[in-house]
Amino acid sequence: MSDEVVRTVSKHSMQAIRSDFDRIASLSKPSDRYRPYYDFLVKHLPSHCERSLDIGCGTGLFTRALAARSTHVLALDLSPNMIRVAKDHSREFSNIDFQIADAVETEFPSDHFDCIVSIATLHHLPMEKMLVRMRDALRPGGVLVILDLFQAEGLWENFMGVMAFPANIFLRLIKSGRLRPPREMRAAWTEHGRHDTYLTLSRVREMCAKRMTGAEVRRHLLWRYSIIWEKADC
Ligand SMILES: C[S@@+](CC[C@H](N)C(=O)[O-])C[C@H]1O[C@@H](n2cnc3c(N)ncnc32)[C@H](O)[C@@H]1O
Repeated sequence: MSDEVVRTVSKHSMQAIRSDFDRIASLSKPSDRYRPYYDFLVKHLPSHCERSLDIGCGTGLFTRALAARSTHVLALDLSPNMIRVAKDHSREFSNIDFQIADAVETEFPSDHFDCIVSIATLHHLPMEKMLVRMRDALRPGGVLVILDLFQAEGLWENFMGVMAFPANIFLRLIKSGRLRPPREMRAAWTEHGRHDTYLTLSRVREMCAKRMTGAEVRRHLLWRYSIIWEKADC
């Protein structure tokens, strides 16, 4: 494919992702369903950050946890509706700068942020390019905290992936009292899932080994993995 065709295809899918998340944002209700992951991620944040960055902030639930230990947070999202909802829920946080932006097109200053976070977003972006950009934008001693979804490979991961379905239903039931999300939300996520693709964990590990020596990649429940990496302070 020529560069021109690749650019047109990716512009197309960016528009599809934006409209999917605009739709999902208007149906979203505050939920603590992902609290166990958030608690794990919060433990890895530096105790205080001057400047933090959240890539793909969504409705801003984790952004607010980041803001509680940062002087300033830049929070980016492609979806105008997500940013509107995030701002609505974050009125008491004057230190968050929410911006509608495509993180792939945004220039980040080098050696700048004390912490960069991205949750459930990187599978929409060119992963290796973003790892390099986030690495370069962190200041020495800064911390990268990522949570995303992966594609199961091999017998064990596929078995765990199947077991995750009942676990997911059980967790939803205890957190929200429902077996399934509301019909409109289900339809919106099903539509979105049609153009979602995920990397395998071995591919993620390979990229981290190449771009971020010492990064810790962990597998979590419900098809998720985390990357925690501290940039060498030299
Ligand atoms: C599944 S949501 C996760 C939101 C939030 N991080 C959370 O944990 O609730 C993924 C978010 O990434 C955003 N996103 C996708 N592609 C993006 C891009 N290129 N630049 C910025 N945000 C993007 C979407 O609009 C969406 O809000």
